[in-house]
Amino acid sequence: MEFDEAADKAPPGWRHFAFEDVARLPAAVREHELARVPPGEPEERIVRGLFWTLVYHLDAGRWDELARNEPIAAAVLDALPGHVDAALDVGAGSGRLTQHLVARATRVVAVEPSDPLRALLSRRCPTVEVVSAWAEKLPFDAGSFQLTAACGALGPDPVVLQELFRVTAKGGRVALISPEHPEWFESQGWERLTAPVSPLPEHPAWLDEFFGPLDPPHELVTATV
Ligand SMILES: C[S@@+](CC[C@H](N)C(=O)[O-])C[C@H]1O[C@@H](n2cnc3c(N)ncnc32)[C@H](O)[C@@H]1O
Repeated sequence: MEFDEAADKAPPGWRHFAFEDVARLPAAVREHELARVPPGEPEERIVRGLFWTLVYHLDAGRWDELARNEPIAAAVLDALPGHVDAALDVGAGSGRLTQHLVARATRVVAVEPSDPLRALLSRRCPTVEVVSAWAEKLPFDAGSFQLTAACGALGPDPVVLQELFRVTAKGGRVALISPEHPEWFESQGWERLTAPVSPLPEHPAWLDEFFGPLDPPHELVTATV
């Protein structure tokens, strides 16, 4: 997400963080994220713009509880390819999508830059190969996966999209669940499915207070390589 959009749309929980928390991010993450910040932004706006990064790296339990209460729509999961040799989940978080790929692929690899989220994911999906990397530079050979997927993690960034297509085998699928700006993907010829949202599970009130209204992933855009 562009910095301005992220700062404008920061959920109420941004007030839980202070500017000093940015310094607590791992150095490589801080460098990656601060590169997105336009010069001259005030401290409060930097905290707002980095809200999600602060959650993923400094308060991963909160993200995990949100993800567990925002399950991916069943129709979206049903529309993913049936069975493949190798599947990749990019920006896998604590495994909301990864856990479903395990049943759909002989080998599942998950890329996730947050140390605490990788730890949660490894515990939850012990057979998955969990790798620390960025979507902009995936550490895999060309054509390594028949299915390259992401949920809630990516948008129409040309560098990232080039990487997703590079690591996907010819004839394989790139599948993005609830990407940023799904209408952009549709306009570029990707197939788009908008599934009905299932009723939300009973969940603690703090989730809405911290993250705003819950919005389970229910969009899917796919392209064949
Ligand atoms: C909205 S969460 C989604 C997590 C998981 N896919 C899910 O559906 O629960 C976005 C995830 O992408 C990761 N992420 C953010 N920027 C990334 C990047 N440039 N490359 C790879 N992962 C990234 C974050 O650490 C976070 O875990």
